[in-house]
Formats: sequence, structure tokens, C-alpha cells
Amino acid sequence: MRRSAILGTGFCVPDRVVTNDDLAGLMDTSDQWIRERTGIEERRWVREGQTSVDLALPAAQQALEAAGLKPTDLDAIVFATSSPDHFCPGNGVYLQRALGAGHLPALDIRAQCPGFVYGLSVADAWIRSGQYERILVVGQEIQSTGMDISNAGRHISVIFADGAGAAVLGPVDASEERGLLSFDLHTDGDFAESLWVDAPGCMYHPRITASQLEEGRHLLQMDGRDVFRHAVTRMPESATAAVTKAGYTWDDVHLLIPHQANLRISEAVQKSLNLRDDQVYNNIMRYGNTTAATIPIALDECARSGRLKRGDLLVLTAFGSGFMWGSCVIRW
Ligand code: UT7
Repeated sequence: MRRSAILGTGFCVPDRVVTNDDLAGLMDTSDQWIRERTGIEERRWVREGQTSVDLALPAAQQALEAAGLKPTDLDAIVFATSSPDHFCPGNGVYLQRALGAGHLPALDIRAQCPGFVYGLSVADAWIRSGQYERILVVGQEIQSTGMDISNAGRHISVIFADGAGAAVLGPVDASEERGLLSFDLHTDGDFAESLWVDAPGCMYHPRITASQLEEGRHLLQMDGRDVFRHAVTRMPESATAAVTKAGYTWDDVHLLIPHQANLRISEAVQKSLNLRDDQVYNNIMRYGNTTAATIPIALDECARSGRLKRGDLLVLTAFGSGFMWGSCVIRW
């Protein structure tokens, strides 16, 4: 019996720091409002011309180095993003080209905030089945180019940001007591329009019109209260289901990394699960909400800082657009 384990992690954020005061100069907001409602102090946005590869490649290279592997050791790429450089092909294709890893398969996953967790589940299934051995899973986003940077979009543009995180997975023997133990994944399409980008879309003739652009329908739209309300119930529910499925209780869990949507959401999740501060990791203060990248960025910080130690029981949980949500339990 074999399972998959994370062999190395890495992350990369743009060097352009955008502070709350910077945003207050662009729209009617304030450092105090943003800190109080979201916990965010600063975030990173790309500079003009930067692409998904500029973020995903360094993250992937770090993850490979941490795993002691070369790009040519990889068998597949699973790339989670909700903000691809192009409508088609997917971002995984551009990373494959940049990585120098040969003609390996590269699969894009569109699962928004839980995209990295969904990506782990695909890689885990491929490794368990014996189809592939070593898989690079990436969560990467460039949200800053798709937001309304004005008063009308201020509830969105103060939150979302850009970044990439990566993990290399490989097979371990189940007797090693290490690796990915369980998943819990869900979708509720009744809320597809609560957090979405309407256009361009193939259902439109043409796919985008001047009036759609004028109305801002190519920009991220969000009913923040709806997302908040569902996130604070779905994440604890799903994380608990994954912990139970793995055969554990919350007393056994060393660390929870919740999707970094809003610090208030993470605090509500922690409270509802009755977890201590040392059991929950948050870094949204420094990076904002980087959608599919929040969890792998946090994972790399925890791995490198020693916050995660070999043998620790780790839980990942995320909720976002779709609505889609999911959790994963890992023995580190
Ligand atoms: O990754 C998962 C996806 N996203 C999320 O998880 C986000 C979930 N939602 C949230 O985090 C919160 O709903 C927000 C932080 C987005 C908004 O906070 P809120 O407390 O739900 O605010 P609200 O949208 O209900 O707006 C309250 C007030 C409104 O003013 P009035 O109508 O009461 O006068 C807004 O216009 O706050 C105003 N407001 C702002 N004021 C200053 C909204 N955004 C801002 C802003 N600065 N940036």
C-alpha cells in the first residue's frame, strides 16, 4: 500500500508591496477599515508585464530544491488557478515550457480558493494508483488585474492579491506513517454568481462586448456577506469531516492552515473548532487573499520556519467561488 507525501514546498510573491494607505489613495477606504474588517496590512500585486510563470516558476524551483529533485524528475504538473494568463491554454502549459521538465502532462484545475486542495487530491489519486510518481502541484493567481480599483469595487480590491505556492508530491510506503491521509471536497453551484467573473464567456456572441467592459463584467464580482456567512460554517464542517475520515479528533491536530480569505473568517473558524492560537496559522496580514495560492504559501512558511515538524498532523481547509470548498489531512 502506498500513499503520497509532500516532499518539498516553495512560494513566490511579487516584489511590489501595496499597503492599505496606498489603496486609501485610490479609493474611499482607510488603513483602519481594512485592518478591522479583514486583518490585512499589505499585499503584493504584480507589475505590468509579469506573468503566471514569473510567480509559479520560482515557487516550483524552490519546491523541487527542497525535495532534492530536478525538473526532469517530475512526471506531471497540476496547476490550480482562477486567474489564468489566457482563456486557453492553461497556465500549466506555460509552466511546463519554462520548467524544462520535458513533455510531461500539465493539467489546470479551476476550483478557485480550494484549488490547491483539489490539486492535492488529484495528485494523491495519481500517485496512489501508480499512474505517476512525482507531481508538482501549484496554486497561483494574478487577481490584481481583474479588480475594480474604485469605490464600487473597494470591498473586493482591498482583499485580493497575487502570488504562487507549490508543493512536490511523491510516493511513500503507507507504513511510513507520513503523507496525505484524507480529503473532503464539495461544490454548491446555487451560489455560482456570489463570487464570479461573468465575461468574457463562450455563451456570449461575441465573447465580450464593449458594453460588458463598460459595465465591468470582466472584473471580479462578490457578495461579501454571502461568502463570509457560508465560509465560516463550511470550513469547520469540512475540516472536521476530513479529520474524522482520517481517524482522528481535533485534539490530535497540531496545525490548521485555513484558506486566507479574511482574518475574521479564520478567527471564526478557529473559535467554532475550539482551537488554540498555536494550532492555527495565518499570514493574510502580509499577503492578502491570494485565492488558490494562500494555502501553499502558508504551507511553505510553516515548513521552513519549523512551525511544522515531521510527524505533525496538519489540516488544510478552503472555501470560495463556486461555491467550492474542501479539506485535507496530512501527516507531515
Ligand atoms: O476567498 C474567499 C472569497 N472572499 C471572502 O472570503 C470574502 C468574504 N467577505 C468579507 O470578507 C467581507 O464581507 C468584506 C471584508 C468583503 C466586507 O466586509 P463587510 O463587513 O461584510 O462589509 P459590507 O460589504 O457589508 O459593507 C459594510 C460597509 C458598507 O458601507 P455602508 O453601506 O454601511 O455605508 C460598504 O460600502 O462598509 C463599506 N465598505 C468599505 N468601507 C471602506 C465596503 N468596503 C469598504 C472598504 N473601505 N474597502
